[in-house]
Order: sequence, then C-alpha cells, then structure tokens
Amino acid sequence: MTHFQIPHATTIMALRARVKSWREEGLSVGFVPTMGALHAGHIALVQLARAHCDRVVTSIFVNPAQFAVGEDLDTYPRDLIDDAEQLSRVKCDLIFIPDAKLMYPDNFSTSISLTGAAAGLESDTRPHFFSGVATVVTKLLNQVRPDVAVFGEKDYQQLQVIRQLVADLDFGIDIVSGETVREKDGLALSSRNAYLDDDQRKRAAQLNVILKDFAQDLSKGMPAGKAQSKALKVAEDAFDSVDYLEVRCTDNLAELEDKPIQKPARVLAAIRLGKTRLIDNRAALPS
Ligand code: PAJ
Repeated sequence: MTHFQIPHATTIMALRARVKSWREEGLSVGFVPTMGALHAGHIALVQLARAHCDRVVTSIFVNPAQFAVGEDLDTYPRDLIDDAEQLSRVKCDLIFIPDAKLMYPDNFSTSISLTGAAAGLESDTRPHFFSGVATVVTKLLNQVRPDVAVFGEKDYQQLQVIRQLVADLDFGIDIVSGETVREKDGLALSSRNAYLDDDQRKRAAQLNVILKDFAQDLSKGMPAGKAQSKALKVAEDAFDSVDYLEVRCTDNLAELEDKPIQKPARVLAAIRLGKTRLIDNRAALPS
C-alpha cells in the first residue's frame, strides 16, 4: 500500500467512518471530486471547499464511464504521490481513492440520462460523456454525503449539468463553483495540457484570447451570429480543428437568438491541437 502524508480511504466503509466521526463532532464536510493529476486549479477548489466547510474530502478516480472508446482513459496522467503531496500542503483532511471494481462491480447496471444543459456542445462530440459524469458524481455524492461539493467553471457545461442533476434529484447538497485558474498567458490549467508539445503549447494560449474577444464583441452589442463568425474565423486559423465555438445562455446553456445579447451569456469552445482536445469558456455580459 502506498504511503501518503495524509489520511486516505479506499473503501466506502472507511470513508463513511471518517465522515461519521466528523459529523459526531458537529463539523461540516466539503467535497471536491477529481480525476487526479492535480494542478493549481484543483487545489484552488480544495481551498474553496475549506472556506465553506470544517473538513474537506477530495476524491481521485479516473472514471472509465466518461471516456469513449479511443479517448485517453489508458494514458490519462496519473501521479498519486504528487497528488497526495499537493493535497497535504493545503491540509485536505481525507483523500478518497476508490478503484474501478468498487465503483463499477460486474453487475453494475444503472446510468443517468440527461437533457437540458447536457444537450449539444460537449455532447455533440462525446454523446455518453455527461451520463458517465452524472453517474459517477451521483455515486460519489452518495458515498461522501457532503454539505457542499465544489466544481470548476473550467468545465462550465459539466458544472451546469451537475447543478441541474442535484436540483432535479433533490440531493440537498450545495454546489459551489470555483473560477478557472490560468497560466500566465491565459491558458486554462488542465491535466491534458501535459500532452502539448512546445509549438502546440504556444498556440493553445490563443484559445483564451479568442474567447475573450468573442465575449467583448458580444458585450459591445455585436449580434451573436456575427461575433461567432468572427471568432470562428480566427480559431480555425489558430487550431487544427474547432469542435464548437458558441455563445449560450449562462444558466441552462440554451441557444441564443442572432441579435445582441440581452442577459448574461457564456462563450464556450472545444478545439484540437494534434491529438489533444482543449476546452475553455468565458462570461459575456450585456452592456
Ligand atoms: P477533473 O478534470 O480532474 O476536474 C476536477 C475539478 O477540477 C472539476 O470540477 C474541474 O472543473 C476543476 N478544474 C479543472 N481545471 C480547472 C482550472 N484550471 N481551474 C479551476 N478548476 C478546474 O472534471 C472532472 O475531473 C470529472 O469529470 C469529475 C467531475 C471528477 C467526474 O469524474
């Protein structure tokens, strides 16, 4: 068994025993689900959870149900020792590290189906992604039973899908969101940035600039269609391909009419550089 600086649980029983002892002391519990390969973006969420709650649990589980055949499940970066070190520095109280057999025993037969915020964008390229995310997040929330769970705006559609899931199915857990943590040049931190070579890494920084300009054009009153075409033209030159680059309603991610935005909106994109797929998003506020 790997030795960590910080308490960890690999079974639901051990996890629940620890959480129960906190509950008995009257302490509140925050939870940050992750797939590991932690960076400053994840760590900021742990700190945010700590600001809301007395104790913080972080889970590390690379969820097979949200990867499609041909995606990077096998090569997804994993570094438990480094993850545990980073978590111990911010005084995370417990790491939950379930394995795939525990999460998905052979007879596992349930999945969650979604509409609303889950429609389009990521789902156009990854049709089973949000079902996989919602299923694992439901399991993790039931296993930990926290007061508060924290998710990043970096995965904005995922955040809105989870808000909807938790409201629809009456989880009674507060969902708190953390702002996207970025590199100096604006590239959103992501475990997948490690796949980029030097040239791709430089080009990746344009994603944030294109989204910023797109949001600014919308804020200045440019009609949605025109602002989108302008942004798309730049993105298609900058990247190997663009999966989507769109403006949506900020809450339910509904499509907008082709006119100046009247209420808060969100610009969202997924692009490819070589084999690497990057996503990012920005707020666009009406003037
Ligand atoms: P993962 O990609 O590891 O991300 C875990 C959490 O960190 C998510 O809420 C994500 O939005 C947030 N995050 C990632 N990069 C960030 C950044 N640069 N700034 C701020 N927050 C950031 O998202 C997942 O894992 C999985 O889908 C999961 C929810 C764990 C379900 O398997």
